[in-house]
Formats: sequence, C-alpha cells, structure tokens
Amino acid sequence: MTKSIGQILKQEHFTQKDIVQLLKSSKEDEKILFTKSSEIKLKYIGKYVYFRGLIEFSNLCKKDCLYCGIRAGNQNVNRYDIANEQILKAAKFAYDNKYGSLVLQSGERSDKIFVDRISELLKEIKSLSNNELGITISLGEQSEETYQKWFDCGAHRYLLRIESSNKELYQKIHPNNKDHSFEKRMSCLKNLQKIGYQTGTGVMIGLPFQTYEDLANDLLFMKEFDIDMVGMGPFIEHSETPLYQYKDQLMNLNDRFRLTLRMIAVLRIMMKDINIASATALQAIDPLGREKALRIGANIIMPNITPTAERANYLLYQNKPCIDEGADDCTNCMEARINMADGEIGYRQWGDSLHFGKRQ
Ligand code: 5AD
Ligand code: FES
Repeated sequence: MTKSIGQILKQEHFTQKDIVQLLKSSKEDEKILFTKSSEIKLKYIGKYVYFRGLIEFSNLCKKDCLYCGIRAGNQNVNRYDIANEQILKAAKFAYDNKYGSLVLQSGERSDKIFVDRISELLKEIKSLSNNELGITISLGEQSEETYQKWFDCGAHRYLLRIESSNKELYQKIHPNNKDHSFEKRMSCLKNLQKIGYQTGTGVMIGLPFQTYEDLANDLLFMKEFDIDMVGMGPFIEHSETPLYQYKDQLMNLNDRFRLTLRMIAVLRIMMKDINIASATALQAIDPLGREKALRIGANIIMPNITPTAERANYLLYQNKPCIDEGADDCTNCMEARINMADGEIGYRQWGDSLHFGKRQ
C-alpha cells in the first residue's frame, strides 16, 4: 500500500521508495513538501543567505566529461586563463563588498605550476582580506598531497560533485579511462573529508539514462557520506558535447527544474543543517529559479564575480545567465532577489555549514 505524503513526512528516515514517491509528488503534494522543507530551513538554518563570490578563472581543462561545454575535446571554446592580478582584484572586490567567502573554480589541471599557483593565490587572498574571506575551491580531482597543500594555504571548503552516485551512470557520462573512474572520484571525496575540508558534493538532475531511483540513491548517498554542503542543478544539454545526441530522450526543461526543487526540498528535510547552494543552472531555466530554491530549502548563493570579459567563455551549459553583467550589477541584483525571497544576506560572515561544526 502506498503511504500518504503526510505519513512519509512524519518519519525520521526516508527509504529509497519514500524518496521516489516524494520526487514524483502531485501538484498538491508538492505544496505540502515545500511547506515542510521551508519550515525546516527556517527552524534550523534561519533566513540568512550567504554569498560566495564565484571566480571562474580559467576554462582550460584536461578532462573530457561527456556533458560539459568546456571539455578538452571541444575545439570551439575560446580558452582563457585570468591573470593572478585580475583574480586578486575580484577577491578584493568581494572583500570590499562585504562578501563572507569566495569560490575559486576552473577546469581541471594538476601540473606543478598550477598547483603552486593556487597555493600562492590562496595565501594572497587570505592576506588581502586580513584572513577574513572564507575560501572554497572547486578544482576537480587532485592528489591527497595537493588537497593537503591547498588546505594548509587557507582553503577550507571544497566542492567536488559526484555527478551521479550510480557507478554505471557515472561511467556512461564520463570517458571510460583510468584517469576518470568512479572509484577515483570517491577516493578524492574521502581524502577531502579526512583532511578536514568542509566537503561539498552534488549531482546533475535530468541526465540521460537517469531514473528516479538513481536520484533517490543520490540523496541517500549524501546522507550516508555525511556531506557538509551540496550544490545540485538541472542537467542542461550543450550542443557541442556527446550527450547532446540524447536530447530527444530527456525530460523537458520545466520538469527538470521542478525535479531539482523537489530534490532540494527532500534533502533539506533529510539533512537539516547542511549548506545547500541554489545552483545557477536553475536560473538558466527560470529567471526566478534561484529565488524559488532559496524559499524551499537552499541557503547559499554564488554571485558571479568573474571579470566580465571572460564570462561568456565559461559555458558548461548553454543559456547560462548573467554573462554580461559586471560584478557590481550582480551584487545589486542578488540583494533585490534575496529580499524578494524573504531572505536576508549574511554579510561578512563565512556562513559555514552548521553540520560541519557539529561533526568536529
Ligand atoms: N548541465 C548542467 N550542469 C553541468 N555541469 C557541467 N556541465 C553541465 C551541464 N551541461 C556541472 C557539473 C560540474 C559543475 C561545475 O557544473 O555538475 O560538476
Ligand atoms: Fe572539465 Fe569535466 S570537462 S572536469
């Protein structure tokens, strides 16, 4: 016998079957789900929304993920690598504008020059902000030694999406080679956690071949792994990638959008005190997508502060929003958006994952 949504929401733990049911909710049930997840957010997290100024400093990437617009095999990308001075200028902008934290993100590289350069940048960002700016990095799979080095230089959070916790699906959407295995991704996540990073992961929603059961397992994986932060967003097909061939088999964009909101709501109920980012990809589908996610459970937003000239070249997916605005415009626009979603901005605060604090 199927349970009612009321029965499921009263439970302490959800099974895979419960989660699938929640993800497939009717319109009426969805309202009940969202009411519950926003109540939980307000109770455990409050209404503060934290900014992480996002600097996408380079689109050079050695990997070849089958979904990603900046994959090494895409010859149509204008490759760029922003000079250190520009990156530091963006960091200073974030600091002067009372952002609590930064995210440094780029395509994946692991040569020594790159590793040392990041170490230097981390130290300089710490110093220009009197140690006040929190720094999240999102620089892909690296050796344990490199992760440790960057941690020692001042990074304290790391984002590495598992993309899908289903190993077979993971293998279908990544090139099948030694350098890009599911096991390697898992061991990177474990190393990050062991070193002491606040560890963030996430998945794409609406991938070809992905089932509701896969998505339910993704949420159970995050809980089991005891993750501190999550960023998950809809998959958006990019015409210059191999996965584009499946475009006619995908769920429509609006359904991917709704499903992402449901994933966020269910996760908020399952993991009450983690940080959940409102993914930029939501806004590529619905102009108010990120605000909707904040209302129902997310508490982190990543305004793009990458120097404008290069934004249009960091297209992991098409129709990416905010590629013409300057960093100033992004901040003002964010403020208005967050007020609209009844949130308040946590200026000058790191906004660490409460969950991480309790794990220590
Ligand atoms: N659609 C949605 N998200 C994507 N990402 C990469 N390509 C796409 C796409 N086509 C996400 C991946 C990656 C993050 C930086 O961006 O999940 O981890
Ligand atoms: Fe660069 Fe996936 S294509 S990490």
